[in-house]
Amino acid sequence: MATTKRWGRDKLSPDELMDGLEDIRAEWKQGHPARAKATTIDAIAERKRRAHQGGDGNHRFEGERYINTTNKDVRRFQLRKLIDEGGQDTVGGPVPSHPTLSRWHSEEFGLPKEEIDALEKSDWSPEELVSNGWYYWMHRTEPWPVLLGSALVGEGEKRLPEVREQMIQDLEETKQLYEKLGIKDIERAMLNQREHSPIGADADHVVFGEDVTRAFVDTPELQERLRRVFIFRLQRR
Ligand SMILES: [Fe+2]
Repeated sequence: MATTKRWGRDKLSPDELMDGLEDIRAEWKQGHPARAKATTIDAIAERKRRAHQGGDGNHRFEGERYINTTNKDVRRFQLRKLIDEGGQDTVGGPVPSHPTLSRWHSEEFGLPKEEIDALEKSDWSPEELVSNGWYYWMHRTEPWPVLLGSALVGEGEKRLPEVREQMIQDLEETKQLYEKLGIKDIERAMLNQREHSPIGADADHVVFGEDVTRAFVDTPELQERLRRVFIFRLQRR
């Protein structure tokens, strides 16, 4: 950060806050490069089994964010986000929930519905229990601007031009890989990835996370809380 201001003591401007968080992300990424992609049907199916174990927590944290947000304009958009991710089809829209799209992906890789059901109902591993337990607990104990700001780690990363570009390139590479692997319904297999890419519903969510952080994470105390949550959240990835 170009500023000499101190987290938790001095009030950072919105630009200083965003730059400070991005410095933390950049440093973390340097020490923790992304893991290699799975490139065979078996390897992808295995990763999907692990992802389904214990169920998908999307509605848990997006719901907590909605419940806790007291600013009505912000809350209204959070509701829209909750519906985008929890299922536009619940209000007559075209796209089912993200957990459903993730299941479609797995089904195209040979996982039977019954197996996915059983995995979703099974317990988390101890590591997941600690990590996810912290994440949902955090959503019940931190002030709402910090909850919404914590989205900058995941979907908020898609604001960064290099990340956007990479994700759009990944869509093309995934399509080519699935063709090579002989996946029958590539469109269905890829809807989950597409929805999470910068050209899916997340495009609007990304801007929302930044706007809320700039406008409402506006005291030294909130900024320090977000800094800590941001680091913990990075470490969960
Ligand atoms: Fe999103």
